[in-house]
Amino acid sequence: MLAAVLLSISASAQSDDALANFDHEVTQPAPGGDTTDGGPQAVSNITSVAGVPLVRLNNGVLMPRFGLGTQVQSLEGANQRQQLNETVRGMVIAALQSGYRHLDDAMFYYNERGAGWGIKESGIPREEVWVTSKISGNLADAQNAFNGMLERLQVDYLDLVYIHHPAGTLADILACWRVMEKEYKAGRIRTLGISNFDNRMEAFNYIMQNAEIKPQMAQIECHPLAQRKDARQLYANNYDIQVECWYPLNHNRTDVNNTTLQQIAAAHGKTVYQIILRWHMQEGLCPVPGSTNPAHILENISIFDFELTDEEMESIRAIDRGDAGRSFNLSYGNWGFGNFSDYTYTHAFTPTAIESTQANTVSGENPIYTLQGQQVHTPQKGVHITRQIDGTTKKVLVK
Ligand SMILES: NC(=O)c1ccc[n+]([C@@H]2O[C@H](COP(=O)([O-])OP(=O)(O)OC[C@H]3O[C@@H](n4cnc5c(N)ncnc54)[C@H](OP(=O)(O)O)[C@@H]3O)[C@@H](O)[C@H]2O)c1
Repeated sequence: MLAAVLLSISASAQSDDALANFDHEVTQPAPGGDTTDGGPQAVSNITSVAGVPLVRLNNGVLMPRFGLGTQVQSLEGANQRQQLNETVRGMVIAALQSGYRHLDDAMFYYNERGAGWGIKESGIPREEVWVTSKISGNLADAQNAFNGMLERLQVDYLDLVYIHHPAGTLADILACWRVMEKEYKAGRIRTLGISNFDNRMEAFNYIMQNAEIKPQMAQIECHPLAQRKDARQLYANNYDIQVECWYPLNHNRTDVNNTTLQQIAAAHGKTVYQIILRWHMQEGLCPVPGSTNPAHILENISIFDFELTDEEMESIRAIDRGDAGRSFNLSYGNWGFGNFSDYTYTHAFTPTAIESTQANTVSGENPIYTLQGQQVHTPQKGVHITRQIDGTTKKVLVK
């Protein structure tokens, strides 16, 4: 039971393995129930890579409990779609080749085509990757939205689909959920989720009362300055729903200047970003940090070779500022979300050409460097977004 997550906040004892024992009780039917063979999702082959623990969700599905956030807000202008998708293509390739197996996307990010290209070119089989997207816009037309997601991401099933925002009428929100349930039973969705429902309790209660298949996942803002203890109590303890954290690095705002985090980072020889993400992991949460920088992407997943002590966990818990620490705290209601009318967007994306090719050997040519200047990685087959020691990047096909 994930109840252990929140109980651990007040307990001083630490388990032998600080990342284990966050599995959920299985209370919900498995995906693909309307099919004889489980449907498209039956090929899924999720394993633990790069030390990332798997968590069993309340439908028995195993999920990597650490992922990449793919939203790049600075490139979301209507005339930036090519650049946005090209950037996300590179982020996804860098992440999958760094050991990430969980990608957090949304139709609202206008980047699903780039993410889909990245998955295809990474050299990692699609069935080994946890792919999330989120439905928004006209929730009453969720079927069209979902069909568009599959087409843009170039997949035939999704591992996790959220309702992105609890905006609009309760009837439309439930209509969207019914489409998700139908696709779940058909084996085209493996897991169902609610995002930002902590900001509209009537919508959360309505889903819990009326859902035939209850949510496995809830996505909320959560980081050391806004630890969201009430929302985590509600989801994890009361309903056995796994919590996933957006803005885990507080969108790179003020966390990094915090002296508590800096002192802990210095003690472990890690960066503040790594300390924040390790805190999430030891709390039983699922962070999805975003980065456009291959070295940051690698740095952020390099958190499975050390452990925060009980005292360090307590001192990070003490810097919580509650709702005052939140970056984005919107009250949703019976209104459409923003101006997102383009909910079945059709913009094209043409991946740019590969710059060079190399054989499947470690030639030392086109290496990836960490921020500390260390060379990493044995090239795998597929397209690589490599980072040179001078900070420039190249796109290389490893044959
Ligand atoms: N459900 C929702 O409503 C919702 C809302 C917001 C976000 N999200 C999800 O949450 C994900 C994460 O949010 P986010 O990316 O906006 O915020 P974030 O993960 O908290 O922070 C990302 C920022 O931190 C920087 N950064 C990351 N790693 C770093 C490192 N090791 N060193 C230095 N800087 C680093 C990034 O810059 P660089 O690019 O330079 O590395 C970027 O500016 C999104 O991508 C999205 O998938 C969901």
